[in-house]
Amino acid sequence: MLLTELLGTRLPVIQAPMAGSQGSRLALAVCEAGGLGSLPTAALGPERLEEELTALAGAASGPWNVNAFCHTPPEQDPEQLRAWHKALAPYYAEFGLDADAVPSGAGRAPFSHALADVLEPFRPPVVSFHFGLPSPDLLKRVKGWGSLVLSSATTMEEARWLEEKGADAVIAQGLEAGGHRGMFLTRDLTTQLGSLALVPQLATALRVPVIAAGGIADAGAAAAARALGAAGVQAGTAYLCCPEADTSPVHRQALQSASARHTALTTIFSGRPARGIVNRLMRELGPLPASAPAFPLATAAVAPLRAAAEARGSGGFSPLWAGQNTSGCSPRPAGEITRELAAGFQAP
Ligand SMILES: Cc1cc2nc3c(=O)[nH]c(=O)nc-3n(C[C@H](O)[C@H](O)[C@H](O)COP(=O)(O)O)c2cc1C
Repeated sequence: MLLTELLGTRLPVIQAPMAGSQGSRLALAVCEAGGLGSLPTAALGPERLEEELTALAGAASGPWNVNAFCHTPPEQDPEQLRAWHKALAPYYAEFGLDADAVPSGAGRAPFSHALADVLEPFRPPVVSFHFGLPSPDLLKRVKGWGSLVLSSATTMEEARWLEEKGADAVIAQGLEAGGHRGMFLTRDLTTQLGSLALVPQLATALRVPVIAAGGIADAGAAAAARALGAAGVQAGTAYLCCPEADTSPVHRQALQSASARHTALTTIFSGRPARGIVNRLMRELGPLPASAPAFPLATAAVAPLRAAAEARGSGGFSPLWAGQNTSGCSPRPAGEITRELAAGFQAP
């Protein structure tokens, strides 16, 4: 089944939800063009989320997607946090920040009944999850109000698990992808496959449609995804420099510079492996330092450094999330990118 039939969109293209880099504006521009625009919830509090949902639901003429994380929050480990703060202490000193007042809050909240209370009145046509699926009662609630449910898989085991638990389609997230790896049944990075290997394996094995994600930034890549058996494509990085995105100035600049050729998986900015442009903090601590606490506890202590560096125009301490393929990053309208990807996918 093609994605257009499943979702009821005109085009087989999903704009990847990108927490911290976009809101309803980008989602609406993609919906307007006939694709599935996505609203990420992970960086929004309930009030902002309600405002964004009101804007999206009120203006979208076709289907749209809301995305949430569904990780299990970790226990705070005081020793691990001390090690993390120690690793960051020289930078606190460099920026004149108080190393005795390092914040250590939770950062990203997982999907919950409280969040579902905010979503329910809007009955989102599609809800996508990252890091697995929520608990069975929550999933039942979401499906009960009529949303189609998608989630990302990075291995065959994850894909089969998602299908078995009731996902209506599975997003095959290749290793090229920007942002957090959706991995949830393994922490072993040696299991992670590029899109060229992952997409056909999942498309052959699953009964539900498979959506290709990771490295898709132009018509040729979308055509390749179709040839590999994908029912549609999901692209993130390609939309980051759109005028409708809220990507920060340092992030936009990095995406369009020669540094964008260097990406790596790092746990520095959240505690989970995510792909971003290599910057000063990643170079100096190493991208996967043993001192980084579990997701999402690494974020809080880096935040003051990020703010101080960005105030000086530097992205050296910011999560510059990007996939390996940044060739599509230019200030082009989101509708144009959506149409180009669809034309490639649908080419005879
Ligand atoms: C800046 C950025 C933020 C992201 N945030 C999310 C998110 O909040 N939820 C999610 O499910 N995926 C997120 N992702 C991953 C995307 O869903 C998708 O897997 C990825 O963008 C596809 O690869 P590409 O970036 O090469 O197109 C993010 C990706 C980027 C680049």
